[in-house]
Amino acid sequence: MKKVLVAFKTKYGSTKQYAEWISEELNCSALPLDQVKSEDIKQCDVVVFGGYLYAGKIMGAEFINNNWPLLQGKEVILFTASGSPPESQGLKDAFNKGFPEPVRAKIRYFPMPGRMGKLDLKDNILMLFPRTGAYLSWLVKRDERSKFIAESLGKPFDHVKKENIEPLVREVESIRN
Ligand SMILES: Cc1cc2nc3c(=O)[nH]c(=O)nc-3n(C[C@H](O)[C@H](O)[C@H](O)COP(=O)(O)O)c2cc1C
Repeated sequence: MKKVLVAFKTKYGSTKQYAEWISEELNCSALPLDQVKSEDIKQCDVVVFGGYLYAGKIMGAEFINNNWPLLQGKEVILFTASGSPPESQGLKDAFNKGFPEPVRAKIRYFPMPGRMGKLDLKDNILMLFPRTGAYLSWLVKRDERSKFIAESLGKPFDHVKKENIEPLVREVESIRN
């Protein structure tokens, strides 16, 4: 059976939660990206990476790009936790921007919904920009959609559920066995 490693980058814990559920289901280890060594990658056949969306970028993407010489002969699975819904264009754009075409072509990507609770000071300040933009857009457009976006941006939400990992786990099991 092929050896699987789960590696993740998290700030508030939702990506870590998904990584832990995935590693429990697949009976393998889950390591934070900053603890993953070249040896860990060399020893496995399937690598499952988890990152979160932050200001339009996939955090952790550079780890995959920098280690591509080691990864390209392996099965590479990516999942993300995000505020945008998994099917949204913003996530497709972040995926396209985050990886060059030859890397993208080899990655199987599973976007998953994330969670947002209490933010640190830096993130509260960062959220002011899109929130102000959304309120200005609502002032101009005066439609229900703009109102909804302005009122919900930066508000707490939690869409992290164990069942969200099922398609990814099935995919890894089909590769592994
Ligand atoms: C300052 C800030 C910026 C964010 N930017 C984005 C974004 O550009 N796109 C998105 O879909 N989600 C965005 N999010 C939502 C996070 O991706 C989401 O909360 C995720 O679950 C966080 O992962 P973590 O709990 O592993 O840190 C942002 C959250 C914060 C606090």
